[in-house]
Amino acid sequence: MSKQFAVIGNPIEQSRSPELHHKFAEKTGICLEYQKRLAPLDGFMPSMQSFFAGGGVGMNVTVPFKEQAFAACEHLSERAKIAKAVNTLWMQNGVLHGDNTDGQGLVAAIQALDWDLNNSSILILGAGGATRGVIYPLVHAGVKKIVIANRTLLRAEQLVADLKDYVAEAKITAMSLKELAGDFDFIINATSASLSGDALVLPETLQFKYAYEMAYGKASSFLEQAQARGVPHSDGFGMLVGQAIESFYIWNGVRPDLKDFL
Ligand code: ATR
Repeated sequence: MSKQFAVIGNPIEQSRSPELHHKFAEKTGICLEYQKRLAPLDGFMPSMQSFFAGGGVGMNVTVPFKEQAFAACEHLSERAKIAKAVNTLWMQNGVLHGDNTDGQGLVAAIQALDWDLNNSSILILGAGGATRGVIYPLVHAGVKKIVIANRTLLRAEQLVADLKDYVAEAKITAMSLKELAGDFDFIINATSASLSGDALVLPETLQFKYAYEMAYGKASSFLEQAQARGVPHSDGFGMLVGQAIESFYIWNGVRPDLKDFL
């Protein structure tokens, strides 16, 4: 019988994870089945537990269950502990393990574009879970300066205070979205503004060489502004593929090449 995998969320219909994992399996010759699993909003734990009780090997977790998955794990990777969210679950000797591959997915996507993160400076827009999940992997990839800019400044300041000790190799500070200014190698949009169709304004006082939008498949005023400036830019499809590849690697021990799936 093939190995069983699933992605759990609510809603889940939009998920592209099954399609990606089946493509990786085909490429690497691994026999698996990967399904979507809709859990009721108050029913994450029983749904997740019944999947593993039924012999499931690995599970991806998406909105809104990543924090509940984090809380459920008996063993967590360092990056999941810092993210305080888990997107990858598996059972090892009866112990539920959790990891978070979102940040490494972003790093791999940026590297696949041949944009150099080493010694770079990054302005990241947003101070929610999406930002929290990527800071540690970015610093491990060589980023030396990070500014977190948020509409609600206090939230950015709290995130900086929370993360500072984990990323001592980099200088990390907070800024208000209203005061955007400075010269950066990268700007990354980790707000949910594109998902809700809201516009973000990037003023002329702000300079950057590369722009990455974490969302994909949506019109993005952020990317339109990068394009208008003639700056290399990308939506978040590569990050989606990158996080899926890292989950696949954890479960199957083989890491497909990101560039084959863009
Ligand atoms: P996620 O887990 O996806 O990061 P979240 O925790 O709800 O989701 O965070 C959403 C982020 O997008 C926040 O940084 C939010 O800013 P606030 O903290 O000020 O709410 C940001 N955001 C959402 N809509 C925005 C908009 N229209 N303009 C600017 N920032 C926005």
